[in-house]
Amino acid sequence: ERSSNVQTRPPVVTIMGHVDHGKTSLLDKIRETKVAPGEAGGITQHIGAYHVKTERGVITFLDTPGHAAFTAMRSRGAQATDIVILVVAADDGMMPQTEEAIDHARASGTPIIVAINKMDKSTADPDRVLNELTTKEVVTEEWGGDVPLAKISAKTGEGIDELLELVNLQAELMELEAPTEGAAQGVVIESRLEKGRGAVASVLVKKGTLNQGDLVLAGEFYGKVRAMTDETGQRVKSAGPSIPVEILGLPDTPAAGSEFLVVSDEKKAREVAEFRANR
Ligand code: GTP
Ligand code: NA
Ligand code: MG
Repeated sequence: ERSSNVQTRPPVVTIMGHVDHGKTSLLDKIRETKVAPGEAGGITQHIGAYHVKTERGVITFLDTPGHAAFTAMRSRGAQATDIVILVVAADDGMMPQTEEAIDHARASGTPIIVAINKMDKSTADPDRVLNELTTKEVVTEEWGGDVPLAKISAKTGEGIDELLELVNLQAELMELEAPTEGAAQGVVIESRLEKGRGAVASVLVKKGTLNQGDLVLAGEFYGKVRAMTDETGQRVKSAGPSIPVEILGLPDTPAAGSEFLVVSDEKKAREVAEFRANR
């Protein structure tokens, strides 16, 4: 039954594609920051979660690595998301992890928006890319199919407004909703141990609102949320549906992809956590 607190929620968009095709650069351009140069070797090795405010509302992005070794992360990224932006470099074309990303999107039933990137390059050949994509039955609107397409440059910013518009249109079609009240539920995007902070879990809220002080059960661990920050490190007190936050307070790092939920009963939380740990 549809409860009265169900509201439109922001879309969660996963950026996927072959290594070095410009996924992180695209996200940087959207956020107008520079995270890619700080990454070791420029190779993304984790899933990053970010949310941005556009004129039409908030969009949450998950950045995934394109390196061949990170198949599991791409699969998780596709599962946690509403929409996949498939980034394909216009000078390189469809490559193995482009094909893999298409397969993950299909397996999770997630609609794809194609972004042909690096259009600023003199060697860009978008028609070749569109032709290659048809061999995987990804037929863009330009070629008579139904897959939305934007031709972009993460370097110059060309086409990025159009891409965001396509995301907003797709999100509107999907009528994404979630209850904003009540105990939060969601998924662990990633977790790590940090010196001085302890276990840090990056989580995405799917339903309800997560508050500082909540008792959270995540995978085989539970703990009180001691502090929460957004992806910029800013302290926040609560996070609603589709909003990614980092939480402190778990005793250890739950596996990426684990579900989390807020529980009211500490004894229950301990029982479930122990049961899971001994499975
Ligand atoms: P992985 O996360 O390792 O899979 O790579 P990525 O897809 O995130 O690519 P990244 O953003 O790290 O960019 C790879 C290289 O392509 C960098 O040198 C970028 O500067 C360059 N690049 C990205 N987008 C563009 C673009 O639109 N035009 C040009 N000319 N270069 C770009
Ligand atoms: Na890269
Ligand atoms: Mg990257």
